[in-house]
Amino acid sequence: MATERRSFSYRLLCAIFFTPIFVVGIIFLILWLSLRPHHPKFHVKEFTLQGLGQTNGYLNVNVTVRNPSHRVRIYYDSMRGSVYYKDQRVGVVSVFESHYQEPKNTTILHYVYNEPLALTTQASNNQRTIEIMNDRTQGMVVYSLQFKSVIKYKGSMWDKRSHRMRATCNVGVGPNGVILAKYKDRQCHVHMSLFELYT
Ligand SMILES: *[C@@H]1O[C@H](CO)[C@@H](O)[C@H](O)[C@H]1NC(C)=O
Ligand SMILES: *[C@@H]1O[C@H](CO)[C@@H](O)[C@H](O)[C@H]1NC(C)=O
Repeated sequence: MATERRSFSYRLLCAIFFTPIFVVGIIFLILWLSLRPHHPKFHVKEFTLQGLGQTNGYLNVNVTVRNPSHRVRIYYDSMRGSVYYKDQRVGVVSVFESHYQEPKNTTILHYVYNEPLALTTQASNNQRTIEIMNDRTQGMVVYSLQFKSVIKYKGSMWDKRSHRMRATCNVGVGPNGVILAKYKDRQCHVHMSLFELYT
């Protein structure tokens, strides 16, 4: 009997001590979940190569960038958008020169590359040109769009560091140069790493 009563009051004591800690913990968890920063999300909406296989073409790109965080602004250092065919860069533009993005904002990046077709018009002994033309004959050429920047989360209590960001979007185009349906609207892969000034 005595031991039972002792264990009961012990349990009561435990409850009195731990319930507030538990409640505070839950509150912090909810705060953390709503205030923690999320990396930006990229989706390719449009990717059209005008004049694939001709001498004077251009590439039309429309990509959306979303800041999914509830309360955290994202600061982008200069951001560049490059297009690659395999390991070869075939075009690059400057997308942002230091830019703040509000929470829950979606920004449309719509721009044109003039260079990508240079690759297909170079001397035909260029290995990559031959490969592009072969891919095209087979129905699909896969390019990779890459966005690189250094970003910071503004208003985040937890994360005040700079991060190197790289978003990679693989885009397959048909022989007409237009993005294929299964590549459209796909979420791009975003890789984040800590930005070290002195490495
Ligand atoms: C880019 O894509 C977005 C989303 O689909 C669309 O709302 C917008 O009108 C497009 N912009 C241009 C210039 O095509
Ligand atoms: C997102 O931010 C951009 C640039 O700051 C602005 O032009 C655009 O209107 C904003 N979009 C929405 C949906 O508020």
